[in-house]
Amino acid sequence: PPLENVLNMHDFEVVAKAVIPAKAWAYYSSGSDDEITIRENRTAFQRVWFRPRILRDVSVVDWSTTILGQKSSLPLYISATALGKLGHPDGELCITRAAAKHGVIQMIATLASCSFDDILNAQANGQTFFLQLYVNRDREITRRYVQHAEARGVKGLFITVDAPQLGRREKDMRMKQVDDDAGAEVQKGQAGVKKDQGVARAISSFIDPSLSWKDIPWFQSITSMPIILKGIATAEDAVLAYEAGVRGIVLSNHGGRQLDTARSGIEILVEVVAALRAKGYHPDPRFEIYVDGGVRRASDVLKALALGAKAVGVGRAFLYAFCAYGDAGVERAIQIFRDEFEMNMRLLGVRTLDELRPEMVDASALNQH
Ligand code: FNR
Repeated sequence: PPLENVLNMHDFEVVAKAVIPAKAWAYYSSGSDDEITIRENRTAFQRVWFRPRILRDVSVVDWSTTILGQKSSLPLYISATALGKLGHPDGELCITRAAAKHGVIQMIATLASCSFDDILNAQANGQTFFLQLYVNRDREITRRYVQHAEARGVKGLFITVDAPQLGRREKDMRMKQVDDDAGAEVQKGQAGVKKDQGVARAISSFIDPSLSWKDIPWFQSITSMPIILKGIATAEDAVLAYEAGVRGIVLSNHGGRQLDTARSGIEILVEVVAALRAKGYHPDPRFEIYVDGGVRRASDVLKALALGAKAVGVGRAFLYAFCAYGDAGVERAIQIFRDEFEMNMRLLGVRTLDELRPEMVDASALNQH
């Protein structure tokens, strides 16, 4: 269908499913085990209700913000999703080019199909990148990768902490064979690759399961990029992260692809904010809280921000947009989010994101499963 007919993020998913190879669809769309968490990522947002305010002169509304001090035209960043070329020949570059035009931040995946330098070389308009890091068993490889990223101007290091082993995504495993082309490119420099259990397993065996809190000072010693832990799932770990001196956390279950029946990011947010506040750690401009998983509408984002998140990460919505329509799909997705922010902020009675308050949502049903 023509791109003008795409009205929301769900439409991109429908088109992507129809046009991309079955193997790509299996890898992208799958969650782990019984896919309870991936479903919960959507339904949790639906249990949060708005308490809009009226008569507040919303003629001018502004949804721009900063993320880690970097300007962002939207209160979201495009989260890392691996292996973009399975679904589109240009892979992650579609995101890079569209994000540059619209002032949106892209998080580059360690396992991107396009090489890190190809993505950086496409940089335009002084656009901002973050880097998602899978930590290699060989720390020397990781050190070089991180320091290269910093030298090339990456503004934030998101260390994935919820994947000491990749989850079993059975849809993907049933596809059996690894896509040799897409796989081969990301395997360069990553030791110990096996091709037996679906795309995900085949490319991930370099990831170090021994990673622990003791490693955080080492990361802090090798880079001055802000370090963010991606994949925090409890208040306890949020407090430890703050005390470890990192600059932020992503409350995430990895798009429902890791521990099945883990809770959604938006559910975790409420307990995390309460625990950090009780310790005097929140609010703190040096420590930002992000949420990802299931974000498909600006209204989802506004709920997370009202409850204390600084921004959210969006994975599949943009992945499906570029698989279906290339750069133009990503641009359209950004435009749809913009239009939704304008309307939802007006209807909610906020002119800027700073005006969002916890009282503007009713989250009392959030933890009723
Ligand atoms: C991911 N995600 C992910 N995260 C990460 O830290 N490293 C990675 O390599 C990947 N790869 C990846 C591939 C695919 C196909 C998906 C769908 C997701 C997780 C991603 O960064 C983010 O946490 C989720 O995608 C957020 O959920 P939504 O927006 O996809 O619902």
